[in-house]
Amino acid sequence: MDVQPKSMHGIWSSRWTFILAATGSAVGLGNLWKFPYVAGSFGGGAFVLIYLVCILLIGVPVMMAEVLLGRAARKSPINAMHHAVVASGSRSGWRLIGWVGIFSALLILSFYAVIAGWAMDYFTLTAKGALYKLSGDDAVLVFSNLVGDPLRLVLWQSAFLALCLFVVAAGVQRGLGRAITILMPILFLLLIVMMLLAVLKGDFYSAWMFLFAFDFESITWRAVLEAMGLAFFTLSIGMGAIMAYGAYMPAEDSIGRTVLTVAILDSVVAVIAGLMIFSIVFATPGIEPSAGPGLMFISLPVAFGNMAGGQLLSFLFFFLVVIAAWSSAISLLEPAVAWLIEDKKISRPKASIFLSFLVWILGLGTVLSFNIAKDIKVVGFTFFDALDFLTANIMLPLSGFAIAVFAGFIMRRDLVRAQMIDLKTKYLWLWLWLLRYVAPVAVLIIFLMGIYDKFSSV
Ligand code: PFF
Repeated sequence: MDVQPKSMHGIWSSRWTFILAATGSAVGLGNLWKFPYVAGSFGGGAFVLIYLVCILLIGVPVMMAEVLLGRAARKSPINAMHHAVVASGSRSGWRLIGWVGIFSALLILSFYAVIAGWAMDYFTLTAKGALYKLSGDDAVLVFSNLVGDPLRLVLWQSAFLALCLFVVAAGVQRGLGRAITILMPILFLLLIVMMLLAVLKGDFYSAWMFLFAFDFESITWRAVLEAMGLAFFTLSIGMGAIMAYGAYMPAEDSIGRTVLTVAILDSVVAVIAGLMIFSIVFATPGIEPSAGPGLMFISLPVAFGNMAGGQLLSFLFFFLVVIAAWSSAISLLEPAVAWLIEDKKISRPKASIFLSFLVWILGLGTVLSFNIAKDIKVVGFTFFDALDFLTANIMLPLSGFAIAVFAGFIMRRDLVRAQMIDLKTKYLWLWLWLLRYVAPVAVLIIFLMGIYDKFSSV
């Protein structure tokens, strides 16, 4: 078996393009929207530490395995798993990892595009000055007006998907690679500007104490599990996205060093986003850090709207969220597009249009679940809740578990070694140990607790 086949989709033009692309995939709504409110709900401090430990001990080893599987085959996740299964002489059932990955990436994209659309709407609202001097009640009204209007949601969902389609259709180097090299510096620049403004205008000290004063008394098993789930989501692992990007990674690059760089950048962005958001929240009386999912769309506009220079902050912030969501969403579309090109011989633009349309239709379910169909529930879940639950609590842990077990125990050792040539023996063993024992056990706990939660709360 050819150890290093060629990619029919092209290769990232440099090591940095892969790092930027993978960081672009990792940094998204998970960092800017989810991390701050979940950390806020679980009391900050110790939760943040556990989240960071999970990234290092579980996320990094699994992410390395995903990149390895992708690069070993240089194909879309479905064919990458096929390649690894044939080369290792293992059971064909392992190929399901690729199918589940691609399928869940499309499911996630269908609701991710709707939420990213909210950020686009807020971006234009700020540009029009509509979020100036909002009271808490006004902010709730602005938010419920948006989610209560299906046409407005569809408009933004379509605009966001069009942005993704546009990039993915242009190909790995001319589309994804070029978009990433433009978007990521803007993202980092915006983050730094936002951070400086938050330090100057907000209550940075309280934010710092909130995120880094470790109070282990407040930590429950539930919080540990949440931290682990968030670590998976934020690193984009278990969804085929990183496997697809790994397929375009230059052969001579070090997987270990590159993945570690991406994980560090992703964590730094989450922490910066947390510091920025909480600096602003703490500087505004009456807003609680534990406000939940509305933290970004309800609390922040109130805080921004009532602070000197807040309009500029708000404008930059929602622009940042859109850019971050965009660079993540393209990695959710790419795996399925690559597969259609490989197996169905469809051209890249046609594959991108077809899949975006499919995702758009599926996304209508999420759109309607906030308004017309908000009372239609199956076992207590709206359509959106069900998708979120299915992907985050079932598909993601299951494929993370399977990837760890497959790369740790089943894949032929010389194939694994061939991709990890630069790794010193002691680090190779450390990685294998984390992948074989720590990651699967931890992921299994997430999965079991997810299912347990579902049945105990319904
Ligand atoms: N990591 C992205 C975020 O934190 O928003 C979300 C994501 C992107 C998850 C790509 C999964 C994925 F394949």
